Amino acid sequence: MHTSRISGFYKMSVEERVKIVKEFANLSDDEVSILLKTGRLDIGLADRMIENVIGTLELPLGIATNFLINNKDYLIPMAIEEPSVVAAASNAARMCRDGGGLFAASTDSLMISQIQLVGITSPHSALMKILQHKDEIMKIANEKDPVLIKLGGGVRDVEVRIVNTSVGPMVITHLIVDVKDAMGANAVNTMAEAVAPYIEKITGGKVLLRIVSNLADRRLVRAWTKVPKESVGGEGVVDGIVYAWAFAAADPYRAATHNKGIMNGVIAVALATGQDTRALEAGAHSYAARSGRYTTLSTWEKDDEGNLVGYLEMPMAVGVVGGATRVNPVARVALKILGVKSARELAEVMGAVGLAQNLAALRALATEGIQKGHMKLHARQIAIAAGAVGDEVDKVVAEMIKEGVIRIDRAKEILNKLRGLS
Ligand code: MEV
Repeated sequence: MHTSRISGFYKMSVEERVKIVKEFANLSDDEVSILLKTGRLDIGLADRMIENVIGTLELPLGIATNFLINNKDYLIPMAIEEPSVVAAASNAARMCRDGGGLFAASTDSLMISQIQLVGITSPHSALMKILQHKDEIMKIANEKDPVLIKLGGGVRDVEVRIVNTSVGPMVITHLIVDVKDAMGANAVNTMAEAVAPYIEKITGGKVLLRIVSNLADRRLVRAWTKVPKESVGGEGVVDGIVYAWAFAAADPYRAATHNKGIMNGVIAVALATGQDTRALEAGAHSYAARSGRYTTLSTWEKDDEGNLVGYLEMPMAVGVVGGATRVNPVARVALKILGVKSARELAEVMGAVGLAQNLAALRALATEGIQKGHMKLHARQIAIAAGAVGDEVDKVVAEMIKEGVIRIDRAKEILNKLRGLS
């Protein structure tokens, strides 16, 4: 009898868990050895990172080249399953380089944590009481993280909002915390929990949630670039890119895909460096909807000389200390390849990569479409799967693309012909 009700699964060894999953899902011995054959992330380490571990999952790790950001050269580690993304980023970075590269700036690493207060008859007097005790609230919060204080971080401000909800008004306190080089969710959650009893005491209300906000709109990165019109393919292509952006800026259906293209770059670097990718996605999309209507995170314009100018602004809650960044050995190496010295520098690099990725997608869409590039990479994979080696690969790819037929059976036929076998 199959049941997913398994008591104490978390206490078992990895092997015991795999045995149970094997029976449940009728896995073969080969499938079990796929689970148990882990790579650079040691299974014991993985078992300490999350619960109920039965294996690890690997992704290709590529390097995007040509990036010049704030006049510094970077090799960009990107972990992603999608073909074309790394090539497209490198290509766009080369175009940006012609105009002096990409530039980026970041705000301080300010995270927000929210404390929800309910059961208040006079929300405005509660709001005033909280603000009057701001210094004490900041002191209680800061006492929770002496290490952060020593590094120059800590609570910078306390803000209070009244939010009218379907079950009545709520008084929402925001702690604005400089988390320095950490992603910071843990630090600010601890602080929110620490100040909650004090807020209850001074207001007489009841605190419910105490949690970080992923709409990290105080922790922004801004990236921009100017691409010479010749580098992008002429003024016609510049116009095409501006039209592509304008479409997205006006239409949420298109904006979602436009921003997805930005996140292809951002999340690939985030995965490579062990960041919380869900927090980044939540921050990006909520920021894109901050006006009440979902729109683009980037803007593309044509300057007086007909060159292309791109600008991107988005939250970027990333860390270079704590979390998986320091635990996952691959993430550690990826950070070393990047050579970033701080979370802010990492955020700036990621913003620049997002902007370049966006440029690559819009340029492809505004010209030949993205399928041509995709198909070429796809055809390579098919040719290799058919057994092509060395320069046979390019010959098989060229023939399949010429015919417009990209299939393994056709690749095998072409290969046999090349080898004089048919
Ligand atoms: C594909 O992963 C990303 C694109 O769809 C982005 C875009 O449409 O701008 C090409």
